[in-house]
Amino acid sequence: MNQRPLTLLAVPGSLRRESLNRALATAALDATPKDVAVTVRDLDGVPLYNGDVEAAGTPAAVVDLKDAITRADGVLVVTPEYNRTIPGVVKNALDWISRKPNPLEGKPCAVISASPGGGGGAMAQPAVKLVLHSLKAELPPLRELAVKHARGKFTDGVLTDDETRERLTALLSEFAGWIRGHNQG
Ligand code: FNR
Repeated sequence: MNQRPLTLLAVPGSLRRESLNRALATAALDATPKDVAVTVRDLDGVPLYNGDVEAAGTPAAVVDLKDAITRADGVLVVTPEYNRTIPGVVKNALDWISRKPNPLEGKPCAVISASPGGGGGAMAQPAVKLVLHSLKAELPPLRELAVKHARGKFTDGVLTDDETRERLTALLSEFAGWIRGHNQG
């Protein structure tokens, strides 16, 4: 039976031009199984949350981001770890997204990370998941991917480490399989 391709929205949690986490998100474009299409969506343009700004009208970048989440079958947050926890850029975006209508409610989400250090940004993952949980996102029990010593695994923004690519593909397959099972259930 032919199934329509699943669409995953990969969101890098760093605004830096040479971000390792954006490079990891971009690697997902090619590391996907055949029946999965990934789109990378940056967070630049999302202003700091301000209730006065919101009262005057939700900023276009936030409306676009929320629409992209609504259209996707699942969201892959690719986050750095800042001071052992969630970076402000990611938390700020989630705060905007949480405002009604919250497109993350019931949305399958996965969290991965990369860091030049030996922890791979793993400590940011439970912090991001805590916020996603409060937004009522679905958090499947997936294998973990925290890419440590990441500077040596990318060249000019391209993933060059075969083991990391295999682990990324395995995680995306697992995520897609979970979403398909969830949609049928
Ligand atoms: C970091 N970095 C960092 N790394 C880490 O593994 N654990 C940490 O707690 C922190 N804390 C931290 C705080 C701040 C304010 C900065 C700017 C950086 C290093 C971080 O992992 C590194 O800069 C990554 O390259 C950031 O991700 P991108 O921008 O490459 O995606």
